[in-house]
Amino acid sequence: LKKIADIVTSKGGSYPVLSGVDAETALKGLWRSDWKQGVVIADSNTGPLFSRTLSDSIKGMAGRVLELSFPAGEENKNRRTKEVLEDSMLKAGVDRTACIIAVGGGVTLDLAGFVAATYMRGIDHVNVATSLLAQVDASIGGKTGVDTPYGKNLIGTFHQPRAVFIDTGALKTLPLKELRNGMAELVKHAVIADPVLFTALERMPFPDDKTIPPEILNRSVLIKALVVQEDERENGKRRILNFGHTAGHAIEMAMDYKEPHGYCVSAGMVVEAMIAEKICGFPGESTKRLIRLLARFGLPVAPRIGFDALSQYLASDKKNRGGEIHCALPKSLGVMEEAGGRWSLPVDPSLFKETFDRLGGG
Ligand SMILES: NC(=O)c1ccc[n+]([C@@H]2O[C@H](COP(=O)([O-])OP(=O)(O)OC[C@H]3O[C@@H](n4cnc5c(N)ncnc54)[C@H](O)[C@@H]3O)[C@@H](O)[C@H]2O)c1
Repeated sequence: LKKIADIVTSKGGSYPVLSGVDAETALKGLWRSDWKQGVVIADSNTGPLFSRTLSDSIKGMAGRVLELSFPAGEENKNRRTKEVLEDSMLKAGVDRTACIIAVGGGVTLDLAGFVAATYMRGIDHVNVATSLLAQVDASIGGKTGVDTPYGKNLIGTFHQPRAVFIDTGALKTLPLKELRNGMAELVKHAVIADPVLFTALERMPFPDDKTIPPEILNRSVLIKALVVQEDERENGKRRILNFGHTAGHAIEMAMDYKEPHGYCVSAGMVVEAMIAEKICGFPGESTKRLIRLLARFGLPVAPRIGFDALSQYLASDKKNRGGEIHCALPKSLGVMEEAGGRWSLPVDPSLFKETFDRLGGG
């Protein structure tokens, strides 16, 4: 694997992000002598595909390795699953010398990272990202947590991984729908920080063979890495990662999570690009390019739901403050509106309504 970034954390440490095939060899190379136990945590899809090879690779180095899995799916990213995993670890005598190897998509990494954050007041973990969304997004930045009946990711904490492995070979088994889901975040990275990446994506055919050119994948990973390094706790610049997400989350909630996150963010990016045209001069031609690109990747370019059905969810988002609806908006491709260091702007609900109506949602 090739090192594409070393992310410096606020505590003064750093962790490497490595990308390529053969995550098990890289894991072996990075294994620390003070990690006496390994706990591989995967879901019911990624476990059978990857856990054994990873645990075999560290067997001679960790005293013992425990393999755990939980049923795949966002609905299992909850406190109950966390408790089941923790109890299995306690029962097996896992102690503070253990390192958790989280292997899977964002659900597994968020959940296993949260287990690591609180197990015996915090143990180390590494992320092996196997979905495209986890590779370009969830594996980096240290956000961990679980969902609740009251909303997603409402219980959690920051806990930085010791290393991140972007296992590009793993994409071969990833369902196409999940690949599209990750493509939406990749496009988002191009819009918020990298016009060259945007052009490269425009030239890239949809990867039916699940191969994303490394220069494209790694550029996207690097954008996430640089942004979280600059603002670990989301007090400022990290908010640019929320482009498309204010509208996207509201669409997701109004559709009762039946539509994948990336698909909702895709439609959300179109909505917010049109809003950006009105309030910070984003060129209409760039919105057209964005729509063409998303459509080519098989992603929705308009909400499938009307404004009335989702307005109640717009203000409830945890990104919003004091009842105002906030959006991170681009000024041009690759440049976000700084808004005096807040990196998000209040948007009048009537502008949302007008935009949804123009897009003919519902
Ligand atoms: N921590 C963060 O900063 C952050 C950022 C973005 C998203 N997230 C979270 O990430 C989650 C979504 O992540 P996701 O889209 O990866 O979902 P996911 O983890 O549910 O993965 C999607 C599906 O693909 C399967 N899968 C993963 N890798 C595979 C592979 N290589 N081969 C075959 N199947 C594979 C999984 O088992 C699952 O069924 C959400 O819970 C979201 O809140 C977190």
